[in-house]
Amino acid sequence: MDKERNILVSGGSRGVGLAIAKTLAAEGYRVFALARSESDELKAAMAAEVSLHYMPYDLSKTAGIAELLRAFKAEHGPLYGLVNNAALGTSGLLSNMHNSDIEKLVRLNTLSPVILTKYAVRTMMTAGEGRIVNIASIIASTGYSGLSVYGATKASLLGFTRSLAREVGGLNITVNAVAPGFMNTDMTAGMKDEQTAKIAARSALKRLVDVDDVAGAVSYLMSDAARNITGTVLTVDAGNTA
Ligand SMILES: NC(=O)c1ccc[n+]([C@@H]2O[C@H](COP(=O)([O-])OP(=O)(O)OC[C@H]3O[C@@H](n4cnc5c(N)ncnc54)[C@H](OP(=O)(O)O)[C@@H]3O)[C@@H](O)[C@H]2O)c1
Repeated sequence: MDKERNILVSGGSRGVGLAIAKTLAAEGYRVFALARSESDELKAAMAAEVSLHYMPYDLSKTAGIAELLRAFKAEHGPLYGLVNNAALGTSGLLSNMHNSDIEKLVRLNTLSPVILTKYAVRTMMTAGEGRIVNIASIIASTGYSGLSVYGATKASLLGFTRSLAREVGGLNITVNAVAPGFMNTDMTAGMKDEQTAKIAARSALKRLVDVDDVAGAVSYLMSDAARNITGTVLTVDAGNTA
């Protein structure tokens, strides 16, 4: 595999994003884990893996994304892959949610990946190849009380995936989504054990998904074996929606 293939993983400092970043770096990609802060887990992973790098940025600052990618390309060359993983998981009944919290969710979960992808696609166009993977959620199609705004943002990524796949297919760029089921991460730390046990019991495989399962799906979509797969949603939910 070409060692110089750059992949940017947003939200790569913890949880799902860190698992994706570690998996891709171990496979020989040059991985940039973007987040607002450098977690201890990311520091430890970088110490063990020379092709894993930290890229500090706050994606809610959408006005700076164009310059972020321009500077990236000047220093490291074009992007081969982009994983839009960073997101907020703010829950709450819609009728009680502050408008500012609704705006934060839509900004980070929908607007920033769209703008980040816009500039990533520009670097991929010059390279003549590219892979975009959007991390959605099964909530986009199943629904979950208390997650209407989050669900709206995740459904928006699926629509974005399908149309962009058609738009950039002729440029040899694939665009796919991964829809995970519930995983134990910082995002879901507020869930009670009995709730997670119920989710596992309702799943065909009677267990929960692990962050490494999602990393494996992303790794496949980045691989040469997936060169003819675009515009799809790969569900990784232990059969929760089967
Ligand atoms: N956990 C689940 O059950 C589950 C299920 C389905 C789908 N998902 C999806 O999987 C993805 C990852 O979820 P997770 O559970 O791993 O979340 P997480 O543990 O909360 O991690 C979120 C990551 O995003 C980064 N981030 C947050 N705000 C940011 C900002 N403004 N700018 C840049 N980076 C930012 C965080 O780093 P900093 O805080 O340092 O910025 C962190 O690296 C999300 O898209 C989520 O919707 C999760």
